[in-house]
Amino acid sequence: MTQRVDLRVGAAVADAAPELWGLFIEDLNDALDGGLNAELVRNGDFEFAPTDREGFHPLTGWTVEGAAAVATDDPLHPNNLHYATLTGPAAITNEGWDGIGATEGQHLRLVVFARTVTPVRLGVQLGDLAETELEVEAGGWQRLETDLTATATGRGELRLSVPDGAAVDIDAVSLRPLGADGEPLTFRPDLLAALQDLKPSFIRFPGGCLAHGHGLDNIYHWKHSVGPRHERVHARNTWNYHQSRQIGYTEYFELCEATGATAIPIVAAGVCCQNSPGGQHAIPESEMDAYIQDVLDLVEYANGGTDTPWGAKRAEHGHPEPYGLRYLGLGNEDQITPDFRDRSARIEDALRAAHPEIIVIGTSGPMTSGADYDAGWAYARERGLPIVDEHGYQSPRWLQQNLDRYAAYDTAGPKVYLGEYGSWSSKIRSALAEAAYMIGLERNPVVRLASYAPLLARVGHSQWTPDLIYFTAEDVRLTAPYYVQRAFAAERGERIHEVELEGAQPVARELPKEGAVAVKSNRAAIAFSDITIDGNPICDARTGPGGDGVVLAQIDPTATELSFTAVRESGTDGFGIRLGPADPHTHIRVDFAPWQNKNTSVFRHDDGIGNHESDHLWTGMEDGVPVHVRIKLDGPRVQVWVDGEPHHDHTLDTRPEHRVAAGVLSRTVPDGLEYVTRLVNAEDTPKTVHIALDPGAYTADIELLTGTGPDEGALFEAFPAPPTRTQTKGDNGIAITLPPWTFASAVIRPA
Ligand code: AHR
Repeated sequence: MTQRVDLRVGAAVADAAPELWGLFIEDLNDALDGGLNAELVRNGDFEFAPTDREGFHPLTGWTVEGAAAVATDDPLHPNNLHYATLTGPAAITNEGWDGIGATEGQHLRLVVFARTVTPVRLGVQLGDLAETELEVEAGGWQRLETDLTATATGRGELRLSVPDGAAVDIDAVSLRPLGADGEPLTFRPDLLAALQDLKPSFIRFPGGCLAHGHGLDNIYHWKHSVGPRHERVHARNTWNYHQSRQIGYTEYFELCEATGATAIPIVAAGVCCQNSPGGQHAIPESEMDAYIQDVLDLVEYANGGTDTPWGAKRAEHGHPEPYGLRYLGLGNEDQITPDFRDRSARIEDALRAAHPEIIVIGTSGPMTSGADYDAGWAYARERGLPIVDEHGYQSPRWLQQNLDRYAAYDTAGPKVYLGEYGSWSSKIRSALAEAAYMIGLERNPVVRLASYAPLLARVGHSQWTPDLIYFTAEDVRLTAPYYVQRAFAAERGERIHEVELEGAQPVARELPKEGAVAVKSNRAAIAFSDITIDGNPICDARTGPGGDGVVLAQIDPTATELSFTAVRESGTDGFGIRLGPADPHTHIRVDFAPWQNKNTSVFRHDDGIGNHESDHLWTGMEDGVPVHVRIKLDGPRVQVWVDGEPHHDHTLDTRPEHRVAAGVLSRTVPDGLEYVTRLVNAEDTPKTVHIALDPGAYTADIELLTGTGPDEGALFEAFPAPPTRTQTKGDNGIAITLPPWTFASAVIRPA
């Protein structure tokens, strides 16, 4: 039966944040190289290296026929050290990114740098799709270019060959489709269109972890990413692959222009990521002045006149007009150490002195609470930073419990940039929880900016899930969370209205009273002994590496005490223990050194989706060294001791969840006033929401995103039912019917 819900729209209470919805871009999951970058050749510079990933080498992506090798003497450019040498008969063939696709009649531009002692005809073949030759003159490195036209639609590989007796050096091989203007494309068009449809107010770049780098030598230096592509500085990608930086800062600013977004670059705050080997390191004192100057130069590159050195560079790179940079983020999820404080403050001081127009954004750790979060916020307040970057990957349950998180924030203090968030699945359940949470973001003006993360993932090449947009070589797969982001950004309001919702109550979740104690290890063999449950001894057990784990006993997960000794016999990292019924039922998981052999963590699972609840720094497990664990479960309270040391005293949140949510903004248009209304129904009964407005006749344009059940939608797949559009009319308001598992975004206007 359809449930009636009444939505009363109150007075406007504050101005809405005008730039709230934006994008987070990081070269993660082949998002850029192999993704948004329109380049079709993989490793065209021959710069892949084992330091990027074990097994990578300068000929990764290429197959070799005959005498072809790699050399480094007298290179094309010092930043592009490796090149291929072919002594005929020989050929090298590039596999592209899962092949190289073209459609019949499509024009593509091939660019090759080559060098030879005696003139050579370089054979060029794109599978069965196109074929030509390039003349290489005798002499030093020369840039050769030719346009190919595909004679059929299909996929092929790019083969470059030299005949018997000929010899040639080859580098910086590039193949890009041509755009309507006859110029090679910078961005893959279908992905660019998917980003343009998100109508972002801003784009954050280059990350994420990529910005502050895995080690000091891995910090993203913007100057390495501008200028001619074959002169850019390649780098190990933090996510265990290679970054060519072909989508560097120049292309980033270009992307902002192409999507109508403002730029939010994130630069390292003078320290690298705390998860780097040996932890966080600070840029040495001797290099700090130069680093600070680099940050100032970035602002000049973006905004300086062409009479400034870096403004002139921008013009040389094709863009004489300034980009109008207004924001700059300092750091990413950094630990607030004395080194961080020192380096960050100096960069900020220099920015404030030289560029008071730039809004500097601080950082506050990877989680929505905890030591880094507290320290990041305290530091931001102390420094008077205008905005703080918060990150919060949380389960749908958590989001639905925390819609009003930002109501408690001090509006007089720094404002919030929710720089990374998402709810751990591509299901409609996640999309609806995100929509409800976004209603919360939208109605708390302390939140100025928000960007879902990560944005893009190539199917089969991902390091992080879920992602907003999946893609293959051939298609772009839009997820349910994508459609939610698109709907919020497409229709924005200017004023936030008070709302009252009647007829739909938040729902409190019961904690199950029955379930198992089960242990599991992905990468280690672990032996468990001295196991007692409520003082009663039980049999020893052994688990891992891999497998489904072992059930030790049945318990009441709200009233149990257990203890055991765990010994790692072999392998890496530690183990996890489930306390309660298996997914999709609510249960607790405690992990002991699950990653990088450090930390213990408490997770809570609801509806099959885990949520990180609490962390404790720990030295991890060693082969043969016993670890004594005690766990006490008392109602929602979870206590964990390791070797007698308290690690966790965490109380599970039992507050009700807002599975039905509503938000209303208004905006002034030439014809009068419009209401932008967001409605979420994350329940399995349909609702008709009656929206009461001032007397009069109204029409509404409604976009509806509906799942057939809460678990519809999957990682790496397109959501099967894109949103539908409908119109309705009403007197003194509007009634909108929400099928179960639905998000609606409606624009209501006087008829
Ligand atoms: O979005 C993926 C990663 O999550 C980002 O690089 C990092 O900032 C966060 O931990």
